[in-house]
Amino acid sequence: MKTFRLLPSSSDRFLPFTFVPGQFLNVAFWIGGARMIRSYSISSSPTRREYVELTVKREPRGAVSRHIVDLLKVGDLIEAAGPVGKFTFDGTEADSVVLISAGVGITPMVSVTRYLTERAWAGDIFFIFTCRTPADFILGNEVATLQRANPKLHVAVTMTRSEGTGWKGPRGRITKELLTQTVPDLASRRIQLCGPLPMMEATKAILAELGVPPENLKTEQFGAVKPAPAAAGIALKPTAPATGPLVTFSTNNKSARIHADQTVLELSEELGIGIDFSCRIGTCGVCKVKMTSGEVDQAVQDALDDDDKANGIILACQAKPKSDIAVEA
Ligand code: FES
Repeated sequence: MKTFRLLPSSSDRFLPFTFVPGQFLNVAFWIGGARMIRSYSISSSPTRREYVELTVKREPRGAVSRHIVDLLKVGDLIEAAGPVGKFTFDGTEADSVVLISAGVGITPMVSVTRYLTERAWAGDIFFIFTCRTPADFILGNEVATLQRANPKLHVAVTMTRSEGTGWKGPRGRITKELLTQTVPDLASRRIQLCGPLPMMEATKAILAELGVPPENLKTEQFGAVKPAPAAAGIALKPTAPATGPLVTFSTNNKSARIHADQTVLELSEELGIGIDFSCRIGTCGVCKVKMTSGEVDQAVQDALDDDDKANGIILACQAKPKSDIAVEA
């Protein structure tokens, strides 16, 4: 686990962008001859105009996170795009907030908490976090510092594998009891939830049981990048011929019929067309392409804004054609 501070590459004092707490950057690296992009939430506060900080957990099988944690040196130049993401909270949306996270999902929550604390925001912040062991409590020191600075910040941390670590706080997963004991009137508050899919699903079920209306809940899935078919060991070329709509990749001058349930991104990989991607779950926006004709279904469109939709931009990782389509790729 390492925190990286990114400064402008020019001699400018300030970064060439501003962001809202909860947003992320897409960073690109060339690794083994392939361009790889991953999304990392910004953990610093937008009040710091000179830098952004990204906290990266080294995943044993993650090519990009290993590259970043093991090889990146102070002074290296990196390519970053953004900021992107709608999983934001800046204090204008509600008069209190419940931030529930697990693992690396803590990073956007720390950005939100830093920002609200620096702004002396008057609302209560309930910061609920779970991880395995104290060593996995990334940014734990920062949370403790914020807690000392902000009497409105209420922190509850529970650990699932803390035996023998000396951890004295709550143990186990996030439960109904932990939530109701930590947050009075939970159902009436704005809730931000971020973590790996199983934790998100379990917590959503508890929140529904506690009567939290869906409109009070904002979510972002973390730490579970869907692997590319090749990486997942799935044959890139299905055996039966495809009989679905015809997809034309106009820039590459290639067309092919798509298989039932295949996405435009998967077909592009089959044809060797380089559409960039990161999350493959519809949230990062790296796979945006322009569709010049036809219609698609997209299960998740979190990364598209109204402008994108008006201009025919689609998410290749989500797009399943309903008719013949043409995309600029
Ligand atoms: S790869 Fe992230 S939205 Fe498609």
